[in-house]
Amino acid sequence: MAKKSLPLSRVYRLLEPGPVVLVTTAHKGRANVMTMSWHTMMEFEPPLVGCVLSGRNYSFDALVKTKECVLNIPTAELAQKVVKVGNSSGSKLDKFKAFGLTPVPASKVAPPLIAECYANLECTVADTRMVNKYNFFVLEVVKAWVDPAQKAPRTLHHQGMGSFRVAGEVLKLPSRMK
Ligand SMILES: Cc1cc2nc3c(=O)[nH]c(=O)nc-3n(C[C@H](O)[C@H](O)[C@H](O)COP(=O)(O)O)c2cc1C
Repeated sequence: MAKKSLPLSRVYRLLEPGPVVLVTTAHKGRANVMTMSWHTMMEFEPPLVGCVLSGRNYSFDALVKTKECVLNIPTAELAQKVVKVGNSSGSKLDKFKAFGLTPVPASKVAPPLIAECYANLECTVADTRMVNKYNFFVLEVVKAWVDPAQKAPRTLHHQGMGSFRVAGEVLKLPSRMK
């Protein structure tokens, strides 16, 4: 085995799964968007999603206070915008205008959907017990939208330091899941 030791600071680059999402929030009458790749499915139905939002992000306070967000799933065509959104703060900037993203009203929550994303998950915060210690929110998806025209969405999967993989080949194997 010719493997070499990996610095612990790089472990996230192996496990960070993606797909990268754009999280929209709305607070004090103003919508905002941030890029997020640290999330995980936790339950089938109702769908629960765990995610980490740094307390340094403007979006963090909005989520704590309003307990609502939308997870918008972009494809590779939006990669440049995804990175710009993730490298700027909504504290002063309107990122929708600045980066050409179109907000569309959601049906069950106040934050908007992003029209350019192929899927949108309207979420409420279901559990905040790990926010203080880990900045970890448990979200419940209360409404989900998907573009039926996109049969094989080329989602972005973050590998850290500006590297992404784009979803490609599909393997179909036998499954017990109905
Ligand atoms: C590819 C990518 C993935 C990111 N993933 C996360 C994440 O999972 N959690 C997080 O708190 N910040 C993440 N960020 C950083 C935020 O998107 C960034 O801090 C953003 O500027 C916050 O915006 P806001 O201040 O308007 O909320 C990521 C950034 C990029 C570019």
